[in-house]
Amino acid sequence: MLLLFLSFLLFTSFPLSLSLNQEGLYLLQLKSSFSDSDSALSSWNSRDPTPCNWHGVSCDGASGSVTSLDLSNANLAGPFPSVLCRLHNLSYISFYYNNINSTIPDISTCRNLVHLDLSQNLLTGDLPHTLADLPNLKYLDLTGNNISGDFPASFGRFQKLEVLSLVYNLLDGTIPAFLGNISTLRMLNLSYNPFSPGRIPPELGNLTHLEILWLTECNLVGEIPDSLGRLKRLNDLDLAINHLVGSIPSSLAELVSVVQIELYNNSLTGELPRGFSNLTNLRLLDASMNRLTGKIPDELTRLSLESLNLYSNKFEGTLPPSIADSPALYELRIFQNRLTGELPQNLGKISPLRWFDVSSNQFTGPIPPSLCEKGRLQEMLMIYNSFSGQIPSSLEQCRSLNRIRLGHNKLSGEIPTRFWGLPHVYLLELVNNSFSGHIGKSIANAKNLSLLIISRNQFNGSLPEEIGLVGKLAKFSASNNKFNGVLPKSIVKLDGLGILDLQGNELEGGLPSGIDSLKKLNELNLADNKFSGEIPDEIGSLSVLNYLDLSDNQLTGRIPLGLQNLKLNQLNLSDNLLSGELPPLFDKEAYKNSFLGNPDLCGNFSVSCDKRDEDKHKGYVWLLRSIFVLAALVFIVGVVWFYLKYRNYKKAKAIDKSKWTLMSFHKLGFSEYEILDCLDEDNVIGKGASGKVYKVVLSNGEAVAVKKLWGGVQKGCDNVDIEKGMAQAESPVRDDGFQAEVETLGKIRHKNIVKLWCSCTTRDCKLLVYEYMPNGSLGDLLHSCKSGLLDWPTRYKIILDAAEGLSYLHHDCVPPIVHRDVKSNNILLDGDFGARVADFGVAKVVDAAGKVAKSMSFIAGSCGYIAPEYAYTLRVNEKSDIYSFGVVILELVTGRLPIDPGFGEKDIVKWVCTTLDQKGADYVVDSKLDPCFKEEIYKVLNIGLVCTSPLPINRPSMRRVVKMLQEAGAENQLKGTKKDGKLTPYYYEDGLDQGSVA
Ligand SMILES: *[C@@H]1O[C@H](CO)[C@@H](O)[C@H](O)[C@H]1NC(C)=O
Repeated sequence: MLLLFLSFLLFTSFPLSLSLNQEGLYLLQLKSSFSDSDSALSSWNSRDPTPCNWHGVSCDGASGSVTSLDLSNANLAGPFPSVLCRLHNLSYISFYYNNINSTIPDISTCRNLVHLDLSQNLLTGDLPHTLADLPNLKYLDLTGNNISGDFPASFGRFQKLEVLSLVYNLLDGTIPAFLGNISTLRMLNLSYNPFSPGRIPPELGNLTHLEILWLTECNLVGEIPDSLGRLKRLNDLDLAINHLVGSIPSSLAELVSVVQIELYNNSLTGELPRGFSNLTNLRLLDASMNRLTGKIPDELTRLSLESLNLYSNKFEGTLPPSIADSPALYELRIFQNRLTGELPQNLGKISPLRWFDVSSNQFTGPIPPSLCEKGRLQEMLMIYNSFSGQIPSSLEQCRSLNRIRLGHNKLSGEIPTRFWGLPHVYLLELVNNSFSGHIGKSIANAKNLSLLIISRNQFNGSLPEEIGLVGKLAKFSASNNKFNGVLPKSIVKLDGLGILDLQGNELEGGLPSGIDSLKKLNELNLADNKFSGEIPDEIGSLSVLNYLDLSDNQLTGRIPLGLQNLKLNQLNLSDNLLSGELPPLFDKEAYKNSFLGNPDLCGNFSVSCDKRDEDKHKGYVWLLRSIFVLAALVFIVGVVWFYLKYRNYKKAKAIDKSKWTLMSFHKLGFSEYEILDCLDEDNVIGKGASGKVYKVVLSNGEAVAVKKLWGGVQKGCDNVDIEKGMAQAESPVRDDGFQAEVETLGKIRHKNIVKLWCSCTTRDCKLLVYEYMPNGSLGDLLHSCKSGLLDWPTRYKIILDAAEGLSYLHHDCVPPIVHRDVKSNNILLDGDFGARVADFGVAKVVDAAGKVAKSMSFIAGSCGYIAPEYAYTLRVNEKSDIYSFGVVILELVTGRLPIDPGFGEKDIVKWVCTTLDQKGADYVVDSKLDPCFKEEIYKVLNIGLVCTSPLPINRPSMRRVVKMLQEAGAENQLKGTKKDGKLTPYYYEDGLDQGSVA
């Protein structure tokens, strides 16, 4: 009985713990030292006899003692558990991706430790010198912590260390020479630390087992030591983003195992070294963004390079003929250099080229006929050079081709017949050359051809009937050639056709019937041809048509009333033989340039009928006219009298409305005068660098936002004196740049872009009338006391909307539009917090080459949003918009201003990066946001970080950004909220195609 009682007592007061072995007890001690918010250690309990079945624990089969502990990715927080060293057989520890936030203690008693992975934690303090005392340590990874200070001298004494990775810490000493003593080292990875300026120790050349040497962004100065050439096993050398000077040592040609060399973004000078021919494994050489000069050495060309990236150097010279001998070269991208001379004519004979981009150089001579000899060539990008001669007939067999851009060269002759019909080509661009001949009938085989752009050549003959078989054709642009004959009837079968531009040819005959089956047609330009007959009435049912130019033809008959149904941005029927009454919608000032030069057309406002009509009843008309003239005289006298009166009465407020030029892009439900009357200081709702914004409530109850741009002249718009107005009317000064831009912007139709209703201009002042957005700008809302309205789902939606708007500008507008001033104040919110991108105040239309229109002469962008490369290139392109957009993302996630006194010297981008590194993501995210969206917020934050990459090339395209944002949102909806975690970088393969904007 007593025994029974005792054993009962035993069992209840020490419940089961008696059975757990000592190692298990140590581990429970570890468990208690951690905060385990995800219950990752829930399987760790004292009821088991051994810990061997616990999560993350592995034991030796024979002895049953713990050999390995893998608690990666478990959201554990707390100090590093020194108790682990009591597990004598422990050889493997991984706490990768947790929140261990102490210093690294002395763990030299972990005698059997081989593998220690503490990467992606919050460790602080110095590197403990005792780490080198671990006799068996082979693997030490402390990547992504906050370890600071210098390397302890003991680090030269590791006995077996093979991997040392300290990437993304706060080490601020220099890279010491004694690292060259760790002769067992295979991987040395010290990238991204704020080291003091220092040289690459030549002693690193002693690490003859080294396979990977990553010293990216380590504040390296001086020259690359010759001794690195001794690293015979090295396959990856990355010295990018440092301050290295001098030339690339020729000893690098002795790195016989090397696969990848990255030297980009340094200040290296001289030529690429000779003797690279030994590097038979080299696949990638990136020496972009240095100051290299001279020619590309012959040796390089015999390599099996997959990628040769020499972007943005100063190579001036020729491409050596031996580049053609490269046995495995399949990607050659040498765009945007200053290479000259001819391409080697046997290029492609040996190399199985796939991607070939030599755009934007100064090459001359013919296209090498063997380019596609291996039958692999997919992309052939040769725009902006001075290539001459014909397209080699051998290329008509190149069925692998899918993207061909030969524009802006001096090519001539006829296109090989079957070249027109290559089955996989979706883009064929031959613009601005001197090609001649017909479009081959074989084009019927071009089943994937979507963009056919052959403007500005000497093509002739008639358009083949077969064009109607190119079922995927979306854009056919053949302006300024010598095509003649009639339009093929089959053209109306192209139901995907969006743009048909045949301006400036010698085409004749009538417009085809059944044109209304071109349901996607939004631009029809047949100007400057010899078309005759009537404009078909069906044209009015092309519901998405918004650009119609039929000017300068011989069209007759009436203007079809159906045209009034269309929402046209551009309508030009001038210089034809049209007759009859103008449809009422068009009988307005706004359309006065649309119908010029049609002598038989009648309308009140813009055109008046020719005398011929009146000849028939001359006398009658004479009487009528006299009466009319008399009445008009009386009327004019009256008006003048009234006007003088009025001027005296209200001189200060007078606006000379007569000299306003109105350009409208939508059917307007208001008149410009109504707006002019309301530009009162009381109605100002905003003020920016480019002008004031007014809210104008129209008589129909609708509101519009009117932006008044500051004029060049000091005088405001409100009090322009009449004399000056008159003088102007006589010698009108037109700002064509502005007009052209506004016209482009007016054409844009997208749900995430603020609608521009119209513009009114005088010399002194320009008004832009936009739709009114009741919730104002994102910036104002986010940084005001009302930011509580913006919960995470709203912020997410806003950012996605804005991304779609920008993506539209970048990818769907032709030519692409760079916004140039993306910021939270330019993202406006409608009544439902739907976001629209606004204020193209400084947006310019860029041409396909990415050159900024010449009217650009002021600094683009706003403080805190300007991409770093702008400081040295003064060029903006889509990538600078993406940077600014990234800043907006960071703003939304953090709730902070892009420039905040609290950041010190830093801007938001630097602040986010350092805070993430030092404190973790929780310190970055706006505390007003509900933590249950944490995971999605982190993902979006991540996207913001990718967009703000310092190197433009690393920023994803806007299209990709939209996709990433959608993925970030979609996953959350599927999985619900998950554990908190640190950020892992996004990888993407976008952005290498800079030389070939499609
Ligand atoms: C480490 O993290 C734990 C748990 O989150 C926290 O209680 C503790 O204060 C942190 N210690 C340091 C030094 O930050």
